[in-house]
Amino acid sequence: MKSQDIRTKFLDFFKSKQHDIVPSAPMVLKNDPTLMFTNSGMAPFKEYFLGNATPKNNRIADSQKCLRVSGKHNDLEEVGYDTYHHTMFEMLGNWSFGDYFKKEAIAWAWELLTEVYKIDKDILYVTVFEGDEKDGTKMDQEAYDIWKQYISEDRILMGNKKDNFWEMGEQGPCGPCSEIHVDIRSAEEKAKIDGKSLVNEDHPQVVEIWNLVFMQYNRKADGSLAGLPAKHIDTGMGFERLCMVLQGVQSNYDTDVFTPLIREIETITGVGYGKDEKVDIAIRVIADHVRAVAFAIADGQLPSNNGAGYVIRRILRRAIRYGFTFLNKKEPFIYKLAETLAHQMGNAFPEIRKQDNLVHNVIKEEEASFLRTLDQGLLLLDKVIEETSGKTVSGAKAFELYDTYGFPLDLTQLIAREKGYDINEEEFNMGMKAQKDRSRAASASETSDWVILLDDEVEEFVGYDTLSVDVRLTRYRKVTTKKDGDQYQLVFNMTPFYPEGGGQVGDRGYIETPNGDVIYVIDTKKENNVIIHFTKNLPKNLNDTFKAVVNDEHRRLSASNHSATHLLHQALRTILGDHVEQKGSLVSPDYLRFDFSHFSKVDKDQLQEIEEFVNARIRENLPLEEKRNIPMQQAIDEGAIALFGEKYEDSVRAIRFGQSMELCGGTHVPQTGDIWYFKIKSEGAVAAGIRRIEAITNVAVGEYFEDVERNYDAVKQLLKNPKDIAKSVSGLQDENAALKKQIEQLLKDKAKNMKGDLKNQLQEVNGVQFLATKVDLDPNSIKDLMFELGGEINNLFLLFATAPSTDKAMLTCYISKDLANEKGYDAGKVVRELGKLIHGGGGGQNFFATAGGKNPGGIPKALERAKDYIA
Ligand code: ALA
Repeated sequence: MKSQDIRTKFLDFFKSKQHDIVPSAPMVLKNDPTLMFTNSGMAPFKEYFLGNATPKNNRIADSQKCLRVSGKHNDLEEVGYDTYHHTMFEMLGNWSFGDYFKKEAIAWAWELLTEVYKIDKDILYVTVFEGDEKDGTKMDQEAYDIWKQYISEDRILMGNKKDNFWEMGEQGPCGPCSEIHVDIRSAEEKAKIDGKSLVNEDHPQVVEIWNLVFMQYNRKADGSLAGLPAKHIDTGMGFERLCMVLQGVQSNYDTDVFTPLIREIETITGVGYGKDEKVDIAIRVIADHVRAVAFAIADGQLPSNNGAGYVIRRILRRAIRYGFTFLNKKEPFIYKLAETLAHQMGNAFPEIRKQDNLVHNVIKEEEASFLRTLDQGLLLLDKVIEETSGKTVSGAKAFELYDTYGFPLDLTQLIAREKGYDINEEEFNMGMKAQKDRSRAASASETSDWVILLDDEVEEFVGYDTLSVDVRLTRYRKVTTKKDGDQYQLVFNMTPFYPEGGGQVGDRGYIETPNGDVIYVIDTKKENNVIIHFTKNLPKNLNDTFKAVVNDEHRRLSASNHSATHLLHQALRTILGDHVEQKGSLVSPDYLRFDFSHFSKVDKDQLQEIEEFVNARIRENLPLEEKRNIPMQQAIDEGAIALFGEKYEDSVRAIRFGQSMELCGGTHVPQTGDIWYFKIKSEGAVAAGIRRIEAITNVAVGEYFEDVERNYDAVKQLLKNPKDIAKSVSGLQDENAALKKQIEQLLKDKAKNMKGDLKNQLQEVNGVQFLATKVDLDPNSIKDLMFELGGEINNLFLLFATAPSTDKAMLTCYISKDLANEKGYDAGKVVRELGKLIHGGGGGQNFFATAGGKNPGGIPKALERAKDYIA
């Protein structure tokens, strides 16, 4: 069965069990402070489990793109070495939110595997949670009894908390789980070792394929468990492993999910898969990593130096490094796989096809730049090895290479070993540990449990319609970080505060208590669908009714920049073309930043046209047309632009200004006239194929023009108020150039005139034509003059001094080359020593050298001493 069909069969099966089939959420999460990447199928539904939102249908199924490369679930270093772990993988999942529970989840899993996919029951094992004393949880008898109806008891195994209790993170929903494992070893192997003993033992052919989680607890900050109000099902089946089983192969990499990529790598590199283990690991690493990186880029996450972008960069660099070392690829090539991937996955995940070009360009540029870094690092490593006495290279140096050039220890070791050296690993690890300790200390934070004041309250956002409203506190918690000290996070029954999202910064403002005390809200963010207000302190009486007030200037200016961002987006698509897609956005009260896909620099004329386009829409004073809670499809049909890599609910909010229509949750001006004016401040590149525009609107434009005017006035005054300032400056420039030319000529003439004089002053000392004197010439003329004299006179020794100002002195020494070479005279030594007299220093060659200093008073003495050198 082809992988495409395997996926479809899964979704069709759960559709027949009344599940809504939804598309995969983005793999990169943009507005979730608790999670960088979707690390399991359930992550996009966290708020349903936490009870912060309600799904339209309480049965859902999908195939979710997941990435396990950071945080609690991290498989990165294993990838490539085995045949069944991945960075990015698809998780097939079905969910029940307070609807069906263990009985149906188990029955359907069994039906799908054995009747639809027709997997032989005799290769399956299931596990059941054995209970945990410390947590006070019991053995999952209920699951055991259900399984018994489908599978013989000797195939039901008990599992501990590590394997059979699933937790989303340090805190949050969790519960016991049952895993389904397959044993795909040959009959011969099976006869030798009982499969049972290999379950959960990291055997490549006895692997878990499906995890059925029975969510019934909430893990609190103090580590204890509390019951969840409603019980849920969360299942996750590894798609690539399922394909391995159904396609009758022994490795995920032998399924049609990976073989097209592997064939392409073989074609590009000329290396065959399946012949040499080291090469195979490298090929698996690259085939795996290119998927993770390509999908991340398609979801709008470019490689960068921090956060999620840095994780992506590291994955790609790992692939490049394996290609570099084991496939001998010193040139970019991984980007070429983007096309194969788009072709192969584009049906199930259209974003990978749509963003093909961007993925291609970004990976190519990243590869080229990291290969340059590798080259530099190699040179450095050569130097380090050269400077090594003995045969062990300093671990501190190896760490430096890791830290600044991204050279992991194994690569450094490999290269060193080829030259007969090893690395002091202990020292390297010390450096690594110190770095980890430093970053841990810097980011250390402590979050207490929520203190619930009012239960059953769902927070309502009223900030589109009002900036001030009476509120009650429903819960709060304390967060202590090294950076910000103690802070409180407050949640109300309703709020006018807009939480950071869609590029727009969170609202600021204050909470007023009944007796007039004010508590400032320093930021607002959303976490798992809950709006959290950050404050430095708590109100005294937590049960009072407070007035929540948004800072209207902060909001008004953010709204102005947000609406302008939409108009800019429209302008870019109109003027540059439909290929322009939003790739990032920041909307703050001070300015806006907009990243978009475009292949070349936006030139000056285009920028002006874009500015004019936006300002024309502002002058038209287009009214805001806002549609809340309309079905996604309706919005798209009406022409709304949806962003790639953004997670949308079934019902969305659409914002229209004239012909500009976007899906957007942000805040906007009531009519475009309120933006006042739009001014682009800069345009530049962010990455291959991505440009960035920064712009200002509203009062910031006023401030900008005031500043420009102030500077203009200052220049005008300096120029004595000319009528035409540009003409006046250009006149000055012409005049300046003419004067420069004249001066050059004059200096030349002067030097020529001086030459005769200086010749006359030469003395013969010990057979040397000697002169030490003060001259009034610029350094260039001195040099020219000296070399001219040198061309005419043999055995010459000259020392010229100048004092261009009261605190500047210069000595220049010229000695005929023969003289310097034969007699061992050294102009460099002369100026170094005499330079001290003018409080300075210098140097040069043995026939020509200069010294500069601060003390013209030392010149006479220096000239006097010069003769000593030939005496
Ligand atoms: N959430 C469960 C897992 O990721 C299904 O294994």
